[in-house]
Amino acid sequence: MITIPYTTALTTLFSYGLLFAFGQLRDLFRKFVEWWKDSNLHGYAPICLGLEDFYVRRLYLRIQDCFGRPIASAPDSWIDVVERYSNDNNKTLKRTTNTSKCLNLGSYNYLGFAASDEYCTPRAVESLKKFSPSTCSTRVDGGTTILHVELEECVAQFVGKPAAMVTGMGYVTNSAILPVLIGKGGLIISDSLNHNSIVNGARGSGATVRVFQHNTPSHLEEVLREQIAFGQPRTRRPWKKIIVVVEGIYSMEGELCKLPEIIQVCKKYRAYTYLDEAHSIGAVGKSGRGVCELLGVDTADVDIMMGTFTKSFGSCGGYIAASKEVIEYLKFSCPAHLYATAISPPAAQQIISSIRVILGEDGSSRGAQKLTRIRENSNFFRSELQKMGFEVLGDNDSPVMPIMLYNPAKIPAFSRECLKRNVAVVTVAFPATPLLLARARICISASHTREDLLKALEVISEVGDLVGIKYFPAEPKKQDDGRVKLE
Ligand SMILES: *[C@@H]1O[C@H](CO)[C@@H](O)[C@H](O)[C@H]1NC(C)=O
Ligand SMILES: *[C@@H]1O[C@H](CO)[C@@H](O)[C@H](O)[C@H]1NC(C)=O
Repeated sequence: MITIPYTTALTTLFSYGLLFAFGQLRDLFRKFVEWWKDSNLHGYAPICLGLEDFYVRRLYLRIQDCFGRPIASAPDSWIDVVERYSNDNNKTLKRTTNTSKCLNLGSYNYLGFAASDEYCTPRAVESLKKFSPSTCSTRVDGGTTILHVELEECVAQFVGKPAAMVTGMGYVTNSAILPVLIGKGGLIISDSLNHNSIVNGARGSGATVRVFQHNTPSHLEEVLREQIAFGQPRTRRPWKKIIVVVEGIYSMEGELCKLPEIIQVCKKYRAYTYLDEAHSIGAVGKSGRGVCELLGVDTADVDIMMGTFTKSFGSCGGYIAASKEVIEYLKFSCPAHLYATAISPPAAQQIISSIRVILGEDGSSRGAQKLTRIRENSNFFRSELQKMGFEVLGDNDSPVMPIMLYNPAKIPAFSRECLKRNVAVVTVAFPATPLLLARARICISASHTREDLLKALEVISEVGDLVGIKYFPAEPKKQDDGRVKLE
């Protein structure tokens, strides 16, 4: 739960109000000019939706230089950001051939597998030569290579479930599989801050969707009890099935799921659990097996385990791991398996290889070192940010740490000032977050060195003072703690 300081909320609302008012005024003017020029296509409804279109034109475009910055390198701990310029007040941005080397605090490269890796890269290159970039076919036709079979076995074993199915895109894993698992007459109970892929999957399923307060098991129980007592709308028949959908780490909050308590509630009411581990698999837990391992939950208690390969494994695609029966059923009925082209073979090989490294099956201890490092880096960075007086969301051990910005003017200011100092950060605002809760989202990687982190802290502190986002008083530094030891 985020509590906004009263004055911050007021000034933030005022800023958005002002932007909105000016935008409306300009739109009014535009309409008048268009009417005058008589250039409108008569008889057609506008193709872009009203309020979203307004938001894009009048708010987003003003700060579009902070988003979609082209990158000219792998998303390693340092990246080459392509420099752009504008001749029309940032309405259009033109690329230069210059790049600037920036410290990367934005990619989900939790274990550092996004960069060239001594074990993974040669194997991925080998598979590229052998299998080509694409299977040019769906899984059920000619798109199942031996790599795909190996990958599914490897993933099932890694996450601790009897079987797994892999898709070529993480987003689609949620949005295409939920509608296959549940439909009309079913009930989905979804955490209020679940990812858009879950929201769209739930809506597309035709099931009734109810939302419970973010990460609040007691409210989940309340909703479950109420819904079970009431049954389906109108007919009041019992629900055909109930699925509770939660995430392991909430990517916009950096928070860990209260999984043990949620599972307890689900078991009590005989509801299935669906756990999205996009940001937690590989990143947390002693051997990288995600929140179940971290929080001591038996994977047998989670009915459907979902995750993506786009973060810790430095690849693409997603998986569903469950019982053999469920996976078999999904493979017969899920459109992402039946009709979509299979995951690219080099991407599959990258996942297999990175899992081997994580498990130490490459014959080195690099995987274990990466896991220790991501935890140490995350906890160090989070505590330092908090000491400086930033409002940082999320839990210890989570590599995602949002720094609250709130005010719309502070979004571009923070992003641009950091970039000027060669630190690339990601800022997120509405519609990805509620209107008042804009933030910068820092993602820490195992590939960051202590020097990288110290540089990042120095820049963020300086920019934080400049932009005015240290909402708490800083903790006074201890005398002997003034210098952090370099490794
Ligand atoms: C355009 O973007 C640059 C940085 O990318 C920024 O410094 C400048 O203030 C922006 N200009 C306007 C008019 O927003
Ligand atoms: C590229 O960088 C060089 C050296 O910093 C500078 O002189 C040049 O103007 C830049 N080019 C563009 C297109 O911005």
